[in-house]
Amino acid sequence: MTGIRELLRLRPDARVVPDASGATRVYAGQRGTFLGALTPCQSAALEVLGAQAADDESLLSAVRSRVAEPDLPRVRELVRGLRAQGWLSSTLTAGRTRLLTFRPLGPAAPPPAPSPAAPDPADLRLSRFAVLRADTSGMVLESPLAHVAVEIHDAGLVGLLASLPVRTARDAGAERPHPVEWREAVPAVLGALARQGFLVPRDGGHERAFRYAQWAPHEMLFHSRSRDGRHDAPFGGTRWAEGIADPLPAVRPPFGGPVVPLPAADLGELRSRDMTLTEALEDRRSLRRHDDAAPLTVARLGEFLYRCARNRGVRGDGKQELGDRPYPSGGRSHELEIYPLVERVDGVPSGLYHYDPERHVLELVTPPGPAVRRLSEMARLTALMSSPPQVTFLVTARFGRVMWKYSAMGYAMTLKHVGVLYQVMYSVATAMGLAGCALGSGDSDAFAAATGLPWETESTVGEFVLGSRAAGDP
Ligand SMILES: Cc1cc2nc3c(=O)[nH]c(=O)nc-3n(C[C@H](O)[C@H](O)[C@H](O)COP(=O)(O)O)c2cc1C
Repeated sequence: MTGIRELLRLRPDARVVPDASGATRVYAGQRGTFLGALTPCQSAALEVLGAQAADDESLLSAVRSRVAEPDLPRVRELVRGLRAQGWLSSTLTAGRTRLLTFRPLGPAAPPPAPSPAAPDPADLRLSRFAVLRADTSGMVLESPLAHVAVEIHDAGLVGLLASLPVRTARDAGAERPHPVEWREAVPAVLGALARQGFLVPRDGGHERAFRYAQWAPHEMLFHSRSRDGRHDAPFGGTRWAEGIADPLPAVRPPFGGPVVPLPAADLGELRSRDMTLTEALEDRRSLRRHDDAAPLTVARLGEFLYRCARNRGVRGDGKQELGDRPYPSGGRSHELEIYPLVERVDGVPSGLYHYDPERHVLELVTPPGPAVRRLSEMARLTALMSSPPQVTFLVTARFGRVMWKYSAMGYAMTLKHVGVLYQVMYSVATAMGLAGCALGSGDSDAFAAATGLPWETESTVGEFVLGSRAAGDP
């Protein structure tokens, strides 16, 4: 790259760990690379790369100053290996200006296929999947398709990237205020960003193919970061918030509103006379018609909630309270809460309630009114029903229950829990001869408006409608 210097440095999150046998390993998060027994000059090079950003020349001279008769080919071999395994950050500079740093997210991998063959820098724009955001280290450019994050040190580059749809690299190169080295560096910098998948040809290039076009940018980023393998970021049950925030209790504290007690199910009797598992699975259907002449009763609603979602106990793991309900929950988080929106149930005045799984009662949260009507109407439309569902269960997550413990995958886990709860609701509805139907979406803002609950703390993640079964439905 003419006019550009490349400085290498060990990633800031890398830990170099020598073992008793004299071998060295390097780790980030849960991933490690075995480097074997390093020669003295390789150890010196690793030390230099851990302490400072160095170009080829300054690295070799630092090694020479520490080791008599250094074996420089072995140093180069180490650097090649570290680079291939994603342990080295690479900073590009032009003259005295630091332009950007490529920070590996994991082992280096080929750029997204099909590779944009030697793109013309004058014809590039940001990828639809690229996200530019602020981080503790400054501005960071990320993409689910890239195996590096880019720390952008130079504000001029941020401006250039943002304006690429209308400006070409040549325009930028011809402009005045930047020093000549900066202008000369621009095409090479854009080429490097294109090789990592951050820039694509102006017409969208390979991103027009269905395998890319099918993804909304936020969904692809969510998929890439909420699964292991594509990054070395902290992941899984790290309990990162310990000491920062208190864990939430397993059972949501009561709202303090008027209460409707619910009858419990007789589990002993159900064990002997209930539908078989095979019947419940094979006879299950999504049923969207309710018999409003003989609606659900408080007893049926109580039995349903008791069988699906009551709290069976709370225990602790020394860090956090753990729940126990009829459906499974990763880490026993049980962050899901059920808010029955009652339109027509014998023995329950209409309104938006919270189901207290500990006391097995409904607690009124919001009386009937425009906000509740809006939620009910949305559920009716989503379920393609001609009249309001007798009950819509608005399922929320108390995000802090999972997020307190899990890094990067908490929200993905919550969505899995919604699916688990849906299946239990379907099965119990079938066994009880009721009409149940899951819904694929709902309005979390409308729920926040109806309840006053802060959206970031607890909001809806699923909906399920339930009613008495209409004559003629299977
Ligand atoms: C996650 C999920 C989301 C769904 N979303 C809706 C929906 O928004 N509206 C609706 O009428 N049915 C919805 N359904 C029901 C499906 O349409 C139904 O399961 C599918 O048509 C198959 O019919 P069956 O359930 O009778 O086997 C959903 C089901 C699931 C599991």
